[in-house]
Amino acid sequence: MVGARPNYMKVAAVMRAAGRTPGIRQVLVHTGQHYDAAMNDVFFADLGLPEPDHHLGVGSGSQAEQTAKVMLHFEPVLKNERPDRVVVVGDVNSTVAAAMVAVKEGVPVDHVEAGLRSFDRGMPEEVNRIVTDAIADELYTHSPEAREHLRREGRAEESIHFVGNVMIDALDQHLAAARGRRAIEALGLSPRGYALATLHRPSNVDAPAMLAELIEILGEVARALPVVFPLHPRTRARIEAAEREGLRLPEGLLLSPPRGYLDFLQLLDGARVVLTDSGGVQEETTALGVPCLTLRENTERPITCLVGSNVLVGRDRTRIARELERALAGPERRGERPPLWDGHAAERIVAVWAGRL
Ligand code: UD1
Ligand code: UDP
Repeated sequence: MVGARPNYMKVAAVMRAAGRTPGIRQVLVHTGQHYDAAMNDVFFADLGLPEPDHHLGVGSGSQAEQTAKVMLHFEPVLKNERPDRVVVVGDVNSTVAAAMVAVKEGVPVDHVEAGLRSFDRGMPEEVNRIVTDAIADELYTHSPEAREHLRREGRAEESIHFVGNVMIDALDQHLAAARGRRAIEALGLSPRGYALATLHRPSNVDAPAMLAELIEILGEVARALPVVFPLHPRTRARIEAAEREGLRLPEGLLLSPPRGYLDFLQLLDGARVVLTDSGGVQEETTALGVPCLTLRENTERPITCLVGSNVLVGRDRTRIARELERALAGPERRGERPPLWDGHAAERIVAVWAGRL
């Protein structure tokens, strides 16, 4: 199952490993949660994903509407295909919706990226994580604390498999191609000569006052170096609305549409520092060792701060200024890769299946 931008890399990694194993027939279902060319098509091309076998065409909507539509449209597809298992990744609405349908149809569900917790139920993703992990049959984790969370929630030891990070499988596979792109050059920039920013969490961009404050913070960063800022459609819509109400964008922000995977990876790899509220970007910066400041009050990926290059800065300006200064004065790469973030996580998932199939 795929639905939204962060799903594509993870599913591409799993499909690649499964495709190398004889005897597995794969059926790709796309819910259609994300649908713009820049949020979808470019990723299929960059990642070499096959055309989906089924497209549910769900699109945007409220939390309930989107989740319900995935359930309604997935059920007949599942009844028709009758797979041996359904693989869901991450924590988006498509993930939990597909898992609920499959479990009720008696089809085993594998959850890849299980056990992450921000302990912030104000995030729609946290609810999706808790529900998906409660009902999935097999739980694939990428960091040690995930097992503790799952055990505390009553999941059996045998259902938990520490396999590593499929997002980093995709990164390792595509990094060489990304480094050959011209995204940095096309902006008139050079490696380590800019910051990269992404923002799309509702808690950061939906409230005009919070959005204005974060834009101001990025403006302060832009006094030190240009800030490349590809805009998620949610964020673009909020910025445009705020501009109509008088928001002025500061100098030095290089706004653009969302980037394709390979261009984005090049920009990430070449950045002097990254500012983000994305889950995937926290992981990718850790894998690359690029200094990352996470503009959130919590993270479901604490290992990126413990071992990797990430610092949780919230929206505290003093803290952000201090961490920015530290990052700019410090080495270009910092931190280490967490255990099993080694490019082979999806192979381990397939190995688990092989033991059971
Ligand atoms: C979703 C996920 C979030 C993930 C993010 C990745 C949920 C609850 N949230 O958030 O966990 O981090 O994707 O990017 O599943 N839109 C477009 N074109 C598109 C897709 C969306 O214009 O192709 C606009 C629509 O106005 C839509 C809004 O973006 O209402 C939000 O999209 P949605 O999928 O509901 O949530 P995201 O914020 O993208
Ligand atoms: N990404 C991209 N172009 C962009 C922004 C993000 O290719 O302009 C990629 C990047 O690899 C990131 C992934 O999309 O890790 C998922 O991103 P997003 O931040 O949308 O979702 P999250 O991981 O927060 O759920």
